[in-house]
Amino acid sequence: MKQARGMVTPNSDSLAFAASEARPAPVADEASEAPPASGEREIKLADRGVEPEPAVSAAEPAVEAPSPNELRLRTVEANIGVLRSRGLAHLTAEDERSDGRTLTLGASRLVNFGSCSYLGLEVHPRLKAAAHDALERYGTQFSSSRAYVSTPLYGKLEDLLLQIFDAPGLVIAPTTTLGHSAALPVLVEERDAVMFDLYVHNSVQAVLPSLKQRGIHCEALPHKRMDRVAARAEVLAKKYRRVFYLCDGVYSMHGDVLDVNALYDALERVPSLHAYIDDAHGLGWAGRCGAGVVLGKRKIHERMVVAFGLSKGMAAAGGVFVFADQALARRVFTCGSSLIFSGPIQPPLLGAAVASAEVLLSDELEILKGRLEARIELFDKLAVGHGLLKERPSPTPIRFIEIGEEETLMDLACALKRAGYFVNAATFPAVARGRAGLRIMLNANQTLDDVRGLVQEIARLVGEGGTRRDTIPALPTPESLEALEGIAFRRG
Ligand SMILES: Cc1ncc(COP(=O)(O)O)c(C=O)c1O
Repeated sequence: MKQARGMVTPNSDSLAFAASEARPAPVADEASEAPPASGEREIKLADRGVEPEPAVSAAEPAVEAPSPNELRLRTVEANIGVLRSRGLAHLTAEDERSDGRTLTLGASRLVNFGSCSYLGLEVHPRLKAAAHDALERYGTQFSSSRAYVSTPLYGKLEDLLLQIFDAPGLVIAPTTTLGHSAALPVLVEERDAVMFDLYVHNSVQAVLPSLKQRGIHCEALPHKRMDRVAARAEVLAKKYRRVFYLCDGVYSMHGDVLDVNALYDALERVPSLHAYIDDAHGLGWAGRCGAGVVLGKRKIHERMVVAFGLSKGMAAAGGVFVFADQALARRVFTCGSSLIFSGPIQPPLLGAAVASAEVLLSDELEILKGRLEARIELFDKLAVGHGLLKERPSPTPIRFIEIGEEETLMDLACALKRAGYFVNAATFPAVARGRAGLRIMLNANQTLDDVRGLVQEIARLVGEGGTRRDTIPALPTPESLEALEGIAFRRG
């Protein structure tokens, strides 16, 4: 498949790459360009043994080329601005109350296919009651770093999560993003190397520059090329003490899944390989006790850390980091900077998280999972039947129908809104240029008729075979890898 120009990955530093395409003019050597300073001032200062200050030019300031950061910001503004002008981004729901299924936008009630609450637990009576109870007992907030003191609900939540993940240790962070920024700098040492899947979530990639700054070797691997993980780790292991591989469990844009068995095989083959997995989108609906695509299937590997988000399938707030080693979990909790310097999850949402964990540990989970699976199965059957998907992808609640050109996608997403369906229009920089598509999230609150109606409407709008029919993102070329590394690291 031909690679689109400027192809970058959804979660790579794609904005930076876009900026790098429009190179700023070289900055002139300031010293040589500066006009002579005022002689009088210079002599006086020199007489007193003071270095003269650099002179300020009286001439018109030169028109500066935009900085790389300015170019990056303009790229984001331009891309989001187009979506906003089409009524597809920066929206605010107008509902007086939420039912977990629909959304009111522009005075129209739409079925919401843009929510990551896969089990629909945000309107579950048990979660609402637990949030109310926690609010009554502990107030709206508990304003202290957990380095000093935590609310009692933390202990209860930790106990329940340890049962769900069947692991020796865990750390709860205020968000998944803050948890990554706490955990990775503690886990990875100067003598280690890091390999990361090119599509690993942005919140993981955001930590890489700080590792690189400490001199830690970081390199990208093509998306989901598990055959390359062990092979490359073996090479790096000759030079570095440990090799960390960073990846997602479920990739958030296209909904494709890590090959878990292949990862365990790689860990067995290379003793210095360690895995760090962000399974934020796998929690709740996947595997035993909803423990995600990795821990819901297999026991945690001794050289593995798995991260989760509580604000998706569990309908609460925060991030959870699961460790095979209790002492390591304690170390991350004690030394992770964002765990020291950021605030906690607030009591009402902690109450909701506790109730959500209780639901995952109850028989009700199978009923909820069954509802969701029925919706995924129906969607896939109809989408494949209409030629919107070439074949059935991994059975996750995230579905991506690639359309191609961004204008065509936005027309389609607007038409779907008019027909009563809200979906995510995924455009650059969320996905590669020219690979725009509909990102559709299924959840247990939608009805089977909602799913049927959406697929039929998409099929009617695009016409049979009207999409690109590619469900798996194109693999990056060596050039895009090269470009990515240049931006993420060489620029520092
Ligand atoms: C895979 C993944 N990891 C992490 C995050 C960030 O989660 P949080 O909002 O808890 O920081 C997201 C956000 O949606 C995500 O999709």
